[in-house]
Amino acid sequence: MTAEPHAPPTSNPCAAPAAARTGSGRAHAKAILLGEHAVVYGAPALALPIPGLSCTTSAVLSAQPGHGLTGYRHRTPAGVASGIGAQAPKALRHLVETMLERFRPGEELAVELALDNGIPVGRGLGASAACARATVNALDDLLRLDLCANDVFDLVQLAETQTHGRSSGIDAWATGSNRPVLMTSGKVSDPTVATAAWVVVADTGETGSTKNAVALVRETFRLYPDRRADFLSRSGTLTAAALGALDDGRLDVLGRQLTANHRLLVSLGLSTPALDRLVDVALRHGALGAKLSGGGMGGCVIALTGTPQAAARLATELARQGARETWTASIDEQGDDD
Ligand code: PMV
Repeated sequence: MTAEPHAPPTSNPCAAPAAARTGSGRAHAKAILLGEHAVVYGAPALALPIPGLSCTTSAVLSAQPGHGLTGYRHRTPAGVASGIGAQAPKALRHLVETMLERFRPGEELAVELALDNGIPVGRGLGASAACARATVNALDDLLRLDLCANDVFDLVQLAETQTHGRSSGIDAWATGSNRPVLMTSGKVSDPTVATAAWVVVADTGETGSTKNAVALVRETFRLYPDRRADFLSRSGTLTAAALGALDDGRLDVLGRQLTANHRLLVSLGLSTPALDRLVDVALRHGALGAKLSGGGMGGCVIALTGTPQAAARLATELARQGARETWTASIDEQGDDD
């Protein structure tokens, strides 16, 4: 799944200064355990890091005259896109311009980026936030900015808003955290986990658009205001019960909240036959709970297990029954004091 790192494109490598610095940054994928969509409206949601799937960015100052993003290369599992800066995604261009204007005002600096992204795009795994975060980290390193966590978050959110429109910020935080992230009303905290668990992420191979899914939910709530209150209350109750179950080490109870959350998301039209099928396969083959994860209308399911062996067996079964790819992430035990 991971590709070899590659150098940023320099239009004329011979012209580069001998001591040209390379800034590098990395961020990883995430999956939402519970509470997606509700979190956009301030209700709680819980996200998990998936460290095995990541994006790395290398950044150099170009030897060529210019300002902003002047060259980029983006490698994904689907292939390589490269070209002049103007051909890069708008969110990346905007990010580079904003950082140069904010931190190097008045200087004529041109930047070239190379992104190496192993996170499938449009699968609810936070690929856009991870790429933005890896890029912010690379520019932070290149320009020796020493940004604090909140500055990095704000910049990642800037790019996410360009890509998805309004977003809760949970992806922007979770793609840089090595612990589960609880977000409530825009604020993040670290939930207590009393027992380890393993989560299998299985890709349907269908691409979903978070922007469209969020718009569908917004329109539903506009047409049927009662459904908004009902959804937010139910989702909040499930997430609260899941947090209690994590705190108590009750994976059976946690699993039931996941499956109930899937049904709630189904009721808003966010699932697909392929997602429902993989949830069903997971529940019939030992998962303690399973649900779609992220924006929905395509993308991935997550399934909870209590041991790495159960996760490995489940991953094999999901792949045998149609998952395009699977990944496993652990939720590590950690108390309040850790
Ligand atoms: O990027 P995705 O597909 O994982 O979606 C993020 C979760 C949503 O709640 C649907 C949107 C948001 O901004 O929180």
